[in-house]
Amino acid sequence: MSGSRNATRSDSRPAESGASPRGRYWRLVAICLGAGAVFAVLFYLWGRELFPRAAGRWGSTFPFVGAVALTLAVALFLSEWFGFAGREVRKVRLAARDFLFLCSLALLLFFAAKAVIDLIAEIPSLGRGVPTRVYAYLIPLPAFAMVVRVLINSETAILFTVAASVLSAAAAAGSWPALLFLLLSGTAGAARARRIPYRYRMLLAGVQTAPVCALAAAALEFSFHGGGEALWAGIFGAVNGLLSGPIALAVMPVAESTFGYASDIRLMELSGTGHPLLSRLMVETPGTFHHSVVVGTLAEAGAHAIGANPVLCRVASLYHDIGKLGKAQYFSENQAGAANVHDALSPGLSRAVILSHVKEGVRMAEEFRLGDRITEIIEQHHGTSLLYCFLDKARPMIQDRKASEEMFRYPGPKPKSREAAIIMLADAAEAAVRSLSRPGPQEVDEAVTGIVNRVYLDGQLNECDMTLRDLHAAGRAISQVLAAVTHSRVDYPASAV
Ligand SMILES: [Fe+2]
Ligand SMILES: [Fe+2]
Repeated sequence: MSGSRNATRSDSRPAESGASPRGRYWRLVAICLGAGAVFAVLFYLWGRELFPRAAGRWGSTFPFVGAVALTLAVALFLSEWFGFAGREVRKVRLAARDFLFLCSLALLLFFAAKAVIDLIAEIPSLGRGVPTRVYAYLIPLPAFAMVVRVLINSETAILFTVAASVLSAAAAAGSWPALLFLLLSGTAGAARARRIPYRYRMLLAGVQTAPVCALAAAALEFSFHGGGEALWAGIFGAVNGLLSGPIALAVMPVAESTFGYASDIRLMELSGTGHPLLSRLMVETPGTFHHSVVVGTLAEAGAHAIGANPVLCRVASLYHDIGKLGKAQYFSENQAGAANVHDALSPGLSRAVILSHVKEGVRMAEEFRLGDRITEIIEQHHGTSLLYCFLDKARPMIQDRKASEEMFRYPGPKPKSREAAIIMLADAAEAAVRSLSRPGPQEVDEAVTGIVNRVYLDGQLNECDMTLRDLHAAGRAISQVLAAVTHSRVDYPASAV
């Protein structure tokens, strides 16, 4: 998964920065050809049934000629559709892993569509009075569109809905009502799957999708085939909507473990202090744990202020410094008045230890399968910023040209999402205010403003979607919460204790 990690999500998800454009193109073509080939197999199995006219014209060579033609057509469609969107739509930057996931889902949906239409018709009590075409309203596209929105983003969910509707409509013999219903129901499902931190919210999204699906199915049936089966169509549409929540909940864990995604539900599970990494952080590096909790509170407030994802901000903050485990004494928050170990180290050695916590954090996140979103934020939370605390100590070396200022920068990458940028600000602000003795609201505000200006002028926010308005709003929210958290307490008289 590390290859696709530079792709960012949240709500924004850039492509792999490591691969060349040519390499990405050929990988995309290979995946699309693979997906097309699977469709060709499906075509070989059911082609005669789905395309009777072509089957009659080509005779015995039909399955082979049709399979090749369909492979090319599906591959071309997928690569053009997702390739164009990937280049031109800002929030659609799909990595190879995402293409694989979307193509797998589209194929799974095709199978599900075929199963719905073929198998349910076999059930004697149902199959008697209801024509087969009505079963198309049970094709579970709303559930799949919800999964794509929750695991990737809304822009990709719309693209997926259109592509999967076109492909799955083939299972319903390419009928117009089926295609229109799939487009509408998929969009309705994706639209209602916004911010799902709890399972019941997914079920609720399905319940809210059901009336739209029911109305759409009944209206389409009425307008294309008269009112005879409109009631059945409405019932099937409603059942489809109601089942979309449970189906999405069943598909999501499989997708998360196979493709390395992390939904908000998974993030909520990770936020419990029972996770082995958080337990270790709490026991072995209590200073870092406390710092992470405070950064989480600040980042959550910053996210609320600009409409970013607060759950992601809070949970990723808890894990952002896990790379410090095992090296607690090298980080100021864990020294608690003890001698500073860096006094005995050269600036170069100190630099190596401090910089390594990012790489080590990424390694641990991958080992513990924390998911792509947390791993990306761990990797980006210092961007390419300078290690200011050792820069002064290293000045003589820099002047003697034995070192350069660039050596005292984190390796990056810079934050690619607003959530990563907020955590970078909250992290730096917490550290800056911690170094103040008895800070009041005024001092906290000045320190946070200084951090915001420094991060912005250093170009650390050049690769994310943060606007200046967002930056000021997030900075203000962080400052307010930090002032409340660090306000000077009223001193109790000793006798009162
Ligand atoms: Fe850090
Ligand atoms: Fe930190």
